[in-house]
Amino acid sequence: MVNRPFTLQLLGPQAIPSRYDHHITRHLSALKNQFHDQDAYHDALNVADMLLYEVFEIRRPELPGELLFGVTVIHPGKVGDEFFMTKGHFHSVLETAELYYCLDGEGVLVMESLEGDWAVEEFYSGSVTFVPPRWAHRSVNTSLDGDLILFFAYPAHAGHDYKSIEEHGFRKLILDGGDTYEIVDNPRWLPPERR
Ligand SMILES: [Fe+2]
Repeated sequence: MVNRPFTLQLLGPQAIPSRYDHHITRHLSALKNQFHDQDAYHDALNVADMLLYEVFEIRRPELPGELLFGVTVIHPGKVGDEFFMTKGHFHSVLETAELYYCLDGEGVLVMESLEGDWAVEEFYSGSVTFVPPRWAHRSVNTSLDGDLILFFAYPAHAGHDYKSIEEHGFRKLILDGGDTYEIVDNPRWLPPERR
């Protein structure tokens, strides 16, 4: 890795970075137990292990002082009445924040703190969303017509903790309500003190 300044270009819509080091693909099978309608999940998986989202990462040393950044593309679709979404995570180093810049599409960032507080912020072309330290986050594409394309940046030593989200999900689900999305309580979620 050459430690020199560099520039890359992001062109939405349908854009991927003009350069990247790592391309991650997440299919339906990677979100086991995450969609609330498990019958719909297994029915969909029996038809095809669909591509839900992709991440194009620019790699940097995972050290304090460095930044990791790249682009996430969440494709449109639903499992049952729940929109396609990312796995969602806390950072392993809790005291690290993250920034999202929406390049194109429509969606929401679902967040919750370790203390059980929650928030849902909307993504739209040009929106910037700040995720404070200690807040888990998951991106959801609420449009069935196009990709949700997000630039992200976070401290390179943050790491990812997927485990607690895999076990209990997020406090809120984002479902298709017809004209708009609905924010619904997740019946599987447990308050931190009952885990
Ligand atoms: Fe993150």
